[in-house]
Amino acid sequence: MAGAAAERGQQRARSAAVRLLLPFLCAALLAFLLASVAFEITHGSHISFGAATNGSGSGAAAGRRGGGSQQQQQQQQGHGGADVSVVQRTMQTRVCGSPAVDGYAHVKPECLEASPTNKWWQEAKPKPDDLDIHIERHADYDGLAVAWGIGNTKKSVEECAEACRQHVPKGDSGPFSRMPCNAFAFCSEETCFEPDAHSHSKGDCWLKFTEAPASPEVNMRGRLSKAMQLRHPAAPVTVQWHSGVVLPRGVQLTNGSWSPRHDW
Ligand SMILES: *[C@@H]1O[C@H](CO)[C@@H](O)[C@H](O)[C@H]1NC(C)=O
Ligand SMILES: *[C@@H]1O[C@H](CO)[C@@H](O)[C@H](O)[C@H]1NC(C)=O
Repeated sequence: MAGAAAERGQQRARSAAVRLLLPFLCAALLAFLLASVAFEITHGSHISFGAATNGSGSGAAAGRRGGGSQQQQQQQQGHGGADVSVVQRTMQTRVCGSPAVDGYAHVKPECLEASPTNKWWQEAKPKPDDLDIHIERHADYDGLAVAWGIGNTKKSVEECAEACRQHVPKGDSGPFSRMPCNAFAFCSEETCFEPDAHSHSKGDCWLKFTEAPASPEVNMRGRLSKAMQLRHPAAPVTVQWHSGVVLPRGVQLTNGSWSPRHDW
């Protein structure tokens, strides 16, 4: 009898404790949810990046230009306060394949427009100062022309790079003219060899768009391969182009991957 009374007393105490604790737990949960939402807003996680990584994604990142530990990258804050490692990933994501795979015959402008790289440019709307210039001498990076290079002459690769960074898409000349410029190639000698039908002369400055500019597709780099020399007797020993990309501030350029054009 006395045992049962004691048990009832304990039960009352327990349910009283639950009645007291429940509102407290609810309040804590609500506070946590509010804090999460506030964090999302202030940390700009609106900058989206595609789910599917295709082709040379972040796997190609650990190149000779790699540098910077993951931790360093996570500590840096890039454009718009977004975590640089997120933007880094976006800038290494390629979802539309290699434009040069069949001589640019099946490039899909819609795919490139919807690509994570272009989406970042459309959403972040970077000013020239929000972008870093990266130049690699004696290299030629692939990309789709947003401004035709023949006759678009500049005095130096630096001037060509700046023209890319300042480029405002006009959208009235060709399928890619609505895309931002994030890659460039500058002809640094009297003529510049390129395995294509055009003739390229000193000062020509090609403005290009490429997906995954932090992991560019490289047409030629440094000394031309023996195979290239054999296929093209006119090819020089060393690449006559200087190339580069403009990247969101803090994003690192990796050595990229070979473009199909490397084997033309
Ligand atoms: C991946 O790239 C290939 C071409 O290399 C393309 O056919 C395919 O549709 C791409 N996949 C996605 C998800 O974009
Ligand atoms: C990137 O670097 C790796 C390792 O150094 C190398 O094997 C590869 O050929 C490089 N890719 C390009 C496009 O240079």
